[in-house]
Amino acid sequence: MAEAPAARGASFVLHHHTSGAAEAPPLERLRTSAFAERTVIHHSDQGDSVRAEPPTELLVPEADTAVHVCGPDGFMTRVVTEATAAGRPPGQLHTERLAPAAPPAAGDEVATEPTVRIASTGIGHPVPADRTIADVLTAQGVEVELSCEQGIRGACPTPVLDGEPDHRDEVRTPDERAAGDRITICCSRARTPELLLGL
Ligand code: FES
Repeated sequence: MAEAPAARGASFVLHHHTSGAAEAPPLERLRTSAFAERTVIHHSDQGDSVRAEPPTELLVPEADTAVHVCGPDGFMTRVVTEATAAGRPPGQLHTERLAPAAPPAAGDEVATEPTVRIASTGIGHPVPADRTIADVLTAQGVEVELSCEQGIRGACPTPVLDGEPDHRDEVRTPDERAAGDRITICCSRARTPELLLGL
């Protein structure tokens, strides 16, 4: 994604977000690339995440610029949310999935705007299509544990007491998914209109 604009002399900054410094091989390629000086590497396990500190370029919309984001669903949702809140119009936002979204199983419905209900309070929180469950809960002051916010480290699995998760992370095993008793709230959604969370 970066090599093509670099080859034609385009002006850009590449922000590469990882869950941790252990992801050495791809980082080494970036550090030795022709655009190494225009590459900024962020590690979530060091507190350097899009949520903690969005890149400045993301938050300063200019007429002749655009944002291209590639990654897991939760990560892309966070980037698009931050950029939209900063005033970037949809036409400046381009997303590319790492892999096709898993299609719903035959006969399954996917709730586009599910409600997550907190068991300890009984309060339900609607989750708009452009926000994650984690986003909604933290905005409502519900304490949740987060790390990568990309569905790749497994820091946020949250107990599900009722309802069926639509798993979109990359860390849960098939057996864990089938059990349906926990959900990675940074990226997953729901197949049922409501999820009751053990929070
Ligand atoms: S915060 Fe990393 S998997 Fe959800």
